[in-house]
Amino acid sequence: MKLASANINIMVKACRRASKILIRDFGEIENLQVSLKGPGDFVTMSDKNVEKILIEELNKARPNYSILSEEIGEIKNDDEFKWIIDPIDGTANFMHGIPHFAISIGLEHKKEIVSGIIYDPIKDEMFLAEKGNGSYLNNQRIRVSSRKDLKNCIIFTGGPKHNSDDKELTLKEQKNFTDKVFIPIRKMGSASLDIAYVAAGRCDGFWQRNLNYWDVAAGIILVKESGGFITDFSGKNAYIENKTIIASNSKINKEMIEVLK
Ligand code: IPD
Ligand code: CA
Ligand code: CA
Repeated sequence: MKLASANINIMVKACRRASKILIRDFGEIENLQVSLKGPGDFVTMSDKNVEKILIEELNKARPNYSILSEEIGEIKNDDEFKWIIDPIDGTANFMHGIPHFAISIGLEHKKEIVSGIIYDPIKDEMFLAEKGNGSYLNNQRIRVSSRKDLKNCIIFTGGPKHNSDDKELTLKEQKNFTDKVFIPIRKMGSASLDIAYVAAGRCDGFWQRNLNYWDVAAGIILVKESGGFITDFSGKNAYIENKTIIASNSKINKEMIEVLK
């Protein structure tokens, strides 16, 4: 089985084409052109070049869809459909030669994410999901893990960001996980892959504050379609508005909320 709707094929084709730049540039990281967006926030020419190709491909196939993409912002068009793009999620890893980053594209229909792709070009791992049709990793169906006790789990997180107002709070939440349950916590450096790994059952749960929509859009449908939960830190659905997100298997969401308190 595999996902093969028209929109999925468009996303796959765009990712495959753009990933050639990533693979080429990753082999020559000492020559990367890097600029600073804000404190501790870098952007490379590769982010911009990947974004350009993705937008070119997506626009060619669906000229009337709107776009929200990290580096160039909004391209307004038909409001019903919108591509949500993070050209490189894990730029810091990419710049340092750490082979863990991804292209992430979510497709929004009437404000709901209905399909998503997260593509790790170095490991050639393509995570795909479509509403009602399941989640896949390289055409194999994936599911979230079934661990029910947080004490047996491995959990991912990220942050705090350099300029965030919630720095202390974020660090306190990370400390809570160590103090209250003492389980392995990982900061892998790519929120989209963190969430994709939850969908694939490699990691049991993920939480983070202050992520942007493009960091999580594709991951949302991946986790939902693989039987997991996506909530904010109070267990509700306002994860985009509140900028707090928990992605987990269906068993540990409540326990994660308790630990974060
Ligand atoms: C970043 C990564 C990282 C997360 C940061 C994001 P970028 O995205 O997802 O894991 O901790 O908050 O900004 O900047 O590499 O696209
Ligand atoms: Ca990102
Ligand atoms: Ca990015």
